[in-house]
Amino acid sequence: MTRAPDTDLAVAAAGLVKTFGDFRAVDGIDLEVRRGEVFGVLGPNGAGKTTTLKMLATLLPMNGGEASIFGVDVRRNPHMIRQLVGVTGQYASVDENLTGYENLWLFGRLQGLSSARSTATAGDLLERFGLTEARDKQIKEFSGGMRRRLDLAASLISQPPLIFLDEPTTGLDPRTRGQMWDTIRDLIREGSTVLLTTQYLDEADQLAGRIAVIDRGIKVAEGTPDELKTSVGSSTLQLRMSEPSDTAEAVAVVRRVLGEEPVLTPESGGLNAALTDANRAADVLIALRQSGLSIASATVQKPTLDEVFMAITGHGADDEVDPEMEVAR
Ligand SMILES: Nc1ncnc2c1ncn2[C@@H]1O[C@H](COP(=O)(O)OP(=O)(O)OP(=O)(O)O)[C@@H](O)[C@H]1O
Ligand SMILES: [Mg+2]
Repeated sequence: MTRAPDTDLAVAAAGLVKTFGDFRAVDGIDLEVRRGEVFGVLGPNGAGKTTTLKMLATLLPMNGGEASIFGVDVRRNPHMIRQLVGVTGQYASVDENLTGYENLWLFGRLQGLSSARSTATAGDLLERFGLTEARDKQIKEFSGGMRRRLDLAASLISQPPLIFLDEPTTGLDPRTRGQMWDTIRDLIREGSTVLLTTQYLDEADQLAGRIAVIDRGIKVAEGTPDELKTSVGSSTLQLRMSEPSDTAEAVAVVRRVLGEEPVLTPESGGLNAALTDANRAADVLIALRQSGLSIASATVQKPTLDEVFMAITGHGADDEVDPEMEVAR
């Protein structure tokens, strides 16, 4: 691993600004990432996540603010920064006709490894990322999950102490996503520091020790997942009715008892109601019983990060997702 200078802060950035013409894509963001942690930057499409990472990785010039990586100034020492940071998101630029092995070998050579070292490193990484069967397959035949893993493998060739993962699982199926999460956890166990962006609240919840929520170029909240959930202050009553056709009537009962509109959760076929006081759950359950509505399940939970996001920004984390952009990213 490239030796990281001796400081506890992997990233220290203050007042980062990026403008495109009159538009302030990143509008004064402060970030501190500690050595050995997974720090999540959470935000919807266009929030400024990628732009922030690119500035920190010296791939885009900063228009304002200060940043250092392990104490090395990003503006003054771009060459050193590139040795300290592994950036994913580069697979799009490689030749689709190359095989998995050739691609990693080439990345190794481009990073200054000898041919023999490149060969050994490519072999190790293919094995570590479960890509041995993709060794001799051309990239154009790779699945989305294989591409992500190859991309992550390529970013690790120089063994950087800090890894930037820009939406590592967007577009992956749940199983492949779980594999990617395991891989990221392995990296952490081996002592890497990870700065991760995601639009998925559950991903930030699963992986990140601390999270910054950004929206429209501004950091709107920061803390551990639990702190963010607690800051919203309310619990949630999650209900599922025995008869799905009773759901509409249950919504009306909840509205009457709590004076708040519950949220339908189509995935689980139920509804969620915010509770300012967890004891109000009993009032709802009694009212449902009195209305002759039968409950399949009822749980009281701390707020999800989705609800936190909604409370902080006034809109959902997955608003404005444009499927075309998903593919283009
Ligand atoms: N090169 C550019 N020229 C002009 N505008 C840009 C450029 N790059 C990004 N932007 C704009 O800056 C804003 C932030 O973009 P950015 O890619 O950082 O968002 P993001 O949070 O990574 O979103 P996503 O989740 O969709 O990846 C967006 O409004 C985007 O359109
Ligand atoms: Mg992005």
